[in-house]
Amino acid sequence: MVDSKKLYLAPMDGVTDRAFRELCKLHGADFVYNEFVSADSIIRNVEKSLKKIEFSDCERPIGIQIFGNNSDTIAKAAQIVESRYNPDEININCCCPMRNITDKGCGAALLKDINCLVNIIENVIKATKTPITVKTRLGWDEKNIIIEELVIKLQNIGVKKIIIHCRTRSQMFTGFPRYEYLSQLKSNNNINIEIIGNGNVVDLESYKNMLNTGVNGVMIGRGAIGNPWIFSNLKNLKIEKIDSYRLIETVEEHIRLSLKYTNEKYTILTMKKHYSGYFKNLPYFKNFKIKLMMSNKIGDVIKILKEIRSEYKDK
Ligand SMILES: Cc1cc2nc3c(=O)[nH]c(=O)nc-3n(C[C@H](O)[C@H](O)[C@H](O)COP(=O)(O)O)c2cc1C
Repeated sequence: MVDSKKLYLAPMDGVTDRAFRELCKLHGADFVYNEFVSADSIIRNVEKSLKKIEFSDCERPIGIQIFGNNSDTIAKAAQIVESRYNPDEININCCCPMRNITDKGCGAALLKDINCLVNIIENVIKATKTPITVKTRLGWDEKNIIIEELVIKLQNIGVKKIIIHCRTRSQMFTGFPRYEYLSQLKSNNNINIEIIGNGNVVDLESYKNMLNTGVNGVMIGRGAIGNPWIFSNLKNLKIEKIDSYRLIETVEEHIRLSLKYTNEKYTILTMKKHYSGYFKNLPYFKNFKIKLMMSNKIGDVIKILKEIRSEYKDK
């Protein structure tokens, strides 16, 4: 028998915008995060970045994630986020493996110097009143797995929660996530900070494996793309079959939410990232997929969705 735990929607750049967060919330996510935003751009008042921080009250509780490499810049950005947006949590990204981020010393590059990382986080904690949390990986590479030392140090300076994507930076998004490290942390008597496990939770089996590590909550990223029902399914410990009617209804809802917060151009572009996920189980879908990818008007997309609904109505 497994007890269900709080389910978190992972921050995903280009994916977890306001519309998708709200949709996941409607389908049972307990806690959501925005797409990461650079501390530097917050300080420079870059409009496009600030837009990524906006959220609605119905999304609460929500964490705003920022990234950077400079202690003062991150602390100042956190103060701005706190005073303008008042999120439930501010999360510092110490996990992004992409070269355009790590080459600047941000994201997972912070794991190369644990003391510097801890100083950065301590500075943010001193500068703000909002709970500060950290999202990290196990370490930079196989030879430098530092997660235990890092968790203890972050716990000691007052970090409220640590989210662990249980891969190293060099694993990027491939290879097996190493849940055994989560079990080790949770059975360490010196560690009592809340730990949220992340990495490849996509179905009941992976969810139960993650819960068996003893983590306090589970974060889901790619498993939610085209599958916002994953949250209610995991909570009920039952994967519900989604018929084509509900599928299309959800895609339409996603589009409506996106139009509520953005515009037609953004919605068309963003939805193109979600179609493969939504329609992955429909057979012989290629021609519809091409039509959806070529469409540049919401009216056309709605017509194509109607055609899909009638083509797959008994499936
Ligand atoms: C498209 C995409 C964008 C991502 N953007 C972010 C981000 O902005 N901040 C972050 O901390 N992690 C980001 N991640 C990593 C996820 O939050 C998560 O840690 C990772 O995908 C592993 O979880 P999963 O196996 O459930 O997807 C991103 C992942 C993907 C696939």
